[in-house]
Amino acid sequence: MTDRVAQLANHLNYPKGLLAGQVAIVTGSGQGIGAETARLFANEGAKVVVADIDAAKSAAVADSITRAGGQAISVPGDVLDGSYIQSLVAQAAAFGGGKIHILVNNAGYTWDGVIHKMSDKQWETIIGLHCTAPFNLVRAAAPYFRVRDREPRCIVNVSSTSGVHGNPGQINYALAKAGVTGMTKTIAKEWGPQFGVRCNAVAFGHIETRLTAAKEEGAYVTGPGGEKISLGIPQKQRGAAKGDGGAGDYPDIPLRRPGTATEAASSVLAVVSPLFAYVRGQTIMVTGGRGM
Ligand SMILES: NC(=O)c1ccc[n+]([C@@H]2O[C@H](COP(=O)([O-])OP(=O)(O)OC[C@H]3O[C@@H](n4cnc5c(N)ncnc54)[C@H](O)[C@@H]3O)[C@@H](O)[C@H]2O)c1
Repeated sequence: MTDRVAQLANHLNYPKGLLAGQVAIVTGSGQGIGAETARLFANEGAKVVVADIDAAKSAAVADSITRAGGQAISVPGDVLDGSYIQSLVAQAAAFGGGKIHILVNNAGYTWDGVIHKMSDKQWETIIGLHCTAPFNLVRAAAPYFRVRDREPRCIVNVSSTSGVHGNPGQINYALAKAGVTGMTKTIAKEWGPQFGVRCNAVAFGHIETRLTAAKEEGAYVTGPGGEKISLGIPQKQRGAAKGDGGAGDYPDIPLRRPGTATEAASSVLAVVSPLFAYVRGQTIMVTGGRGM
């Protein structure tokens, strides 16, 4: 083989993509931002563990990645279930040949109510989903992040403008998503110095997914006690946020439109990529400029 041919052959065998050789868990990746994150990670060479409470959607996302030539498995379950968290980490490590490099705590929904009418169940469920579940997952995955093998390790916690600025009707969600910031900085400070773990949060503004679709479309999730929790934003509120349907659309968003799930997921990819190697403990605002 000539040098040039050998060089080309090496190039072809070289792992491709920003996340080549890395193993990633993305919770809530059966649809929306999580599904797009899983897809973009796989495109960049990661082995992706698709993890969602909806087993059919979780399997469909993993299948579509595999059919497109990527590597993914589906490990469905409820992040509020402690035994599922253990099993998710074990299956991810087995899939990753004993390694996990990336964890994205994305699974979640809202269960809104004004302060004086919010039930204990609403409060506890949302804190459990956005704070306790990510903590449980990070703790369970500790043996795979507290390692000194010089490979990249990265945790991204998904937050929201509600956690940064507050939002009427979302006192439970606002507190939970604000908590994500403190958790993120603590992980960055505790696991950064010795193990090089990078941990950041990404706070989304208005991203078009099931969570922000018209409530009248009737989407719902089943809560931990079997409650039917309606998702979405009432049409009247969506209309008010949208504005006049002309140049004055979405007056509180400088880009004048909501973001897409792909745009949101792209920011998560950016944060876990080597391009963000020196960024730690930050809450990155992905809002089209809203709230700056
Ligand atoms: N869409 C937005 O505008 C927006 C804004 C700020 C923050 N967020 C956050 O982004 C994340 C993703 O939301 P999305 O907009 O893609 O919503 P989505 O409803 O489209 O997707 C959320 C996914 O999480 C899964 N999930 C919910 N509860 C789960 C559980 N207990 N265990 C495992 N999986 C579970 C759902 O099945 C679903 O597939 C959430 O944490 C949300 O709070 C979204």
